[in-house]
Amino acid sequence: MTKGDVTAEVKVEKVASLGRRALRELCDSASEAIQDGAGFGWLRPPLAQKFERYWRGVMLVPECTLLVGKLDGVIGGSVQLVSPPPQKEAWAFACLIDTHFVAPWARGHGMARKLLEQVGSEACEHGFTAMNLSVRVTQKAAVNLYETLGFNCWGTHPKYALVDGKTVAGHYYCKEL
Ligand SMILES: CC(C)(COP(=O)(O)OP(=O)(O)OC[C@H]1O[C@@H](n2cnc3c(N)ncnc32)[C@H](O)[C@@H]1OP(=O)(O)O)[C@@H](O)C(=O)NCCC(=O)NCCS
Repeated sequence: MTKGDVTAEVKVEKVASLGRRALRELCDSASEAIQDGAGFGWLRPPLAQKFERYWRGVMLVPECTLLVGKLDGVIGGSVQLVSPPPQKEAWAFACLIDTHFVAPWARGHGMARKLLEQVGSEACEHGFTAMNLSVRVTQKAAVNLYETLGFNCWGTHPKYALVDGKTVAGHYYCKEL
């Protein structure tokens, strides 16, 4: 399949449990996105065992809802909806959108947009009235996409991330639902 292939089918699914195949595909896609410079936290892909533990951990956290994007049946991206913990009652109206990525081979098919649209629906179903997210300013495609989808940039942290010894600024966004 080639980038931009109009016949490719993109689906987004909420993950109830991670089987072996799904876990492997998720680790592989995320590793490729990280290697490509994706800015969702990791700087280098972790070792397979550590990465598998991370995703299994996500499934165990009650505040995390994991959605995956599939291109022709293979996981190529994901996003997490993170609910505030129970003691944060004053922030109970807003969720966090985290770990949004699409592997390079799955890009250009609308997966990133679909993941965000579906996580927005999921947030509404949870009763949230706002979604927050942040991103490095250097992630131009993501910045563009978030702004197109109605996320408002309310601030920029000049020292948002430290990448290879250099600080990188980051934008903070909020979208009202
Ligand atoms: C940003 C990213 C998520 C886009 O993934 P994608 O699945 O290719 O995006 P889509 O196909 O859904 O395209 C969504 C929009 O972004 C635009 N877009 C995608 N990649 C782009 C690029 N490199 N430059 C400019 N615009 C781009 C598309 O044209 C599309 O616009 P449209 O819907 O108005 O036509 C993906 O490139 C990525 O994972 N990047 C690295 C990680 C990252 O930045 N994550 C988010 C922050 S943590």
